[in-house]
Amino acid sequence: MRIPLIAANWKMHKKQSEAVQFVEQCAGLLAALKPEIVICPAFTLLAAVGETCRRYGLRLGAQNMFWETAGAFTGEVSPLMLKDLQVDYVIIGHSERRRLFGETDRQVAQKIKAAYQHKITPILCVGETLEQRQARQTMAVITEQVSTALKGLDPADVSKIVIAYEPVWAIGSGLAATVVDAGTVAARIRTIVSEQFSMQTAREVRILYGGSVNRDNIAEFMQAAELDGALVGGASLEASTFASLVNTAAEVAFL
Ligand code: 13P
Repeated sequence: MRIPLIAANWKMHKKQSEAVQFVEQCAGLLAALKPEIVICPAFTLLAAVGETCRRYGLRLGAQNMFWETAGAFTGEVSPLMLKDLQVDYVIIGHSERRRLFGETDRQVAQKIKAAYQHKITPILCVGETLEQRQARQTMAVITEQVSTALKGLDPADVSKIVIAYEPVWAIGSGLAATVVDAGTVAARIRTIVSEQFSMQTAREVRILYGGSVNRDNIAEFMQAAELDGALVGGASLEASTFASLVNTAAEVAFL
């Protein structure tokens, strides 16, 4: 059985005091029965947020990392450094990294491999731009992104991966994909994994939807059989809003 997962991508927000307060406040508002919750703060907040998360049974994620373990790579953060802070998950290939910082599918693949080498679970982000969607290239784009990212990996590792379908046009726009569209792409992702590895591996992969998820639409996404949760940006920044989103997700997931 796939365990439902809600991940908070804080992007470049929050100072340390706000971050710790968020976790404490949010944890106090969560229902007893909860999905797996992953908080992904900026690098500077990982130590403090991680310590607080561990007290409340929440998991810690980073938003990016480099693939090398150590060396002359000014400004980069290595998987070893993340592991040292007990990071459980790492977001890889977010569209903002691809678009603003030129990350390629090949680099994404290198990062995924490095994450597994250090026993950090990747949250691989894939998704089409508006232009690609209008040109009906969604499935081709997703296929390329997923298959390149997973190429050459051990099937046992792949079964643990989390893949977030985040259409670029839906991020921060208030315009979420329809549940049908998100479910169709998620099903396609499962087929890609199944063809590249096996049906069993594909069945174990958790697939999230991301892009303008909020506490009003989360229930619908949780109802989709192909989706196992959500990657949440804007609606993860305020403790009571995020807690109510998580509680709603749990109600649907554990019905
Ligand atoms: P929003 O929820 O703000 O649309 O952001 C989604 C996202 O990019 C999560 O990684």
